Amino acid sequence: MKVLVVGGGGREHAIVMKFAESTKVDALYCAPGNGGIAKYAECFPVKATDLDGIVSLAKQLAVDLVFVAPDDPLVMGMVDALQAEGFQTFGPKKNAAILEGSKVFSKELMQKYHIPTANYQVFQDPKKAVAYLQEAKTYPTVIKADGLALGKGVVIAQNEEEALAAISSIMEDRIFGDSGSQIVIEEFLTGPEVSVLCFTDGKTIQPMVSSMDHKRAYENDIGPNTGGMGTVAPNPYYTPDLAQTCMDTIFLPTIHAMQKEGRPFQGCLYFGLMLTPDGPKVIEYNCRFGDPETQVVLPLLETDLMDIILAIQEEKLDTLTIQWKKACAACVVMASGGYPKKYVTGYPISGLDENGQVNGCFVYHAGTKLDRDQICTSGGRVLGVTAIGSTLKDALHTAFDGVQKISFQDAHYRKDVGQRALKA
Ligand code: AMP
Ligand code: GLY
Repeated sequence: MKVLVVGGGGREHAIVMKFAESTKVDALYCAPGNGGIAKYAECFPVKATDLDGIVSLAKQLAVDLVFVAPDDPLVMGMVDALQAEGFQTFGPKKNAAILEGSKVFSKELMQKYHIPTANYQVFQDPKKAVAYLQEAKTYPTVIKADGLALGKGVVIAQNEEEALAAISSIMEDRIFGDSGSQIVIEEFLTGPEVSVLCFTDGKTIQPMVSSMDHKRAYENDIGPNTGGMGTVAPNPYYTPDLAQTCMDTIFLPTIHAMQKEGRPFQGCLYFGLMLTPDGPKVIEYNCRFGDPETQVVLPLLETDLMDIILAIQEEKLDTLTIQWKKACAACVVMASGGYPKKYVTGYPISGLDENGQVNGCFVYHAGTKLDRDQICTSGGRVLGVTAIGSTLKDALHTAFDGVQKISFQDAHYRKDVGQRALKA
């Protein structure tokens, strides 16, 4: 099969490298890709959000499958556009991707189908939101822009001042554009967070190995939120009992709800969960593989990824037993100095071999580009240095060893990735 992967970050590199292992894949393409992906797939400079451009590229390459990895093209309807031209795809259609595309939709779905989540209110009018907050006076409180906001649409306000500032910037200044035409104000939940990515054909749902993200920029979970500074899998807080509870009260009810609403979800459904003292609750749904969760989950997958995708397309996921390595994985993100705020790019990266890798690790490139033969930094998150081990400690040891071998100007990474998991 000829496969086109849409996207160009660490997640897409992990997907491309998994496809490279498949006996069913003969040719791999990626758009736009990056400097590391280019070593494994032919890359084309078409933006992931360019629906027409991707459809044309798929035609030009006569591919057999298009794997749409990022949230924005899925929410925009790229899968629908490709299917309309007869292409096989991986990823939900627009009417199912709304599960991530609208927080109001997802909260209303959970309320209607009794899926556990934080209590919430929806506001279209900033004045009413302010009046509500002045009445409720419970802090911290969580304010979320309805639509996609590059992972920055969630504000945890510690007091009224911060809450009012969030409402004003989201709803009045529209810092996230129309994504801020509505907001959700919700209850602040506590407990360990777990990411569970699941394969689903709309009827059957098969969870992958659980994982734990590290969202804050600096050690000890301080500093601004980022796309994720590292991940480990499995997540030790997610016990088999909790997994069963999540299957019964969250995973199955969600796909059945989507089916009942006439929005069957096919692809990867990502559950962001909080293990609260009252049981697991949904923090967010994502309609795609997580980044950098994918970088620790896919290396543990033993079953051919293409077999899973074909089973999903035929809605026969119930007939497939998906195998996972009995091992642990850790990913340490090396970021540009200053990320997630202002940073400089274009620095040469040293320590990588001719394939952009280091011995013993998978180095997933997130923000790199090839400048002639030199791999250079080109984004905030630059590399996800990932290792597998029989224990989490081993995996972390190897991943940090890999990090030591790589250098670029002002590189920044969290030295405490995995520490919270080791204490579980
Ligand atoms: P998101 O950008 O949707 O991934 O959310 C960012 C982070 O905000 C999550 O990973 C949680 O740590 C936090 N968060 C979101 N909703 C809540 C909530 N209701 N209570 C506590 N923390 C939350
Ligand atoms: N790592 C969080 C996300 O992909 O949204």
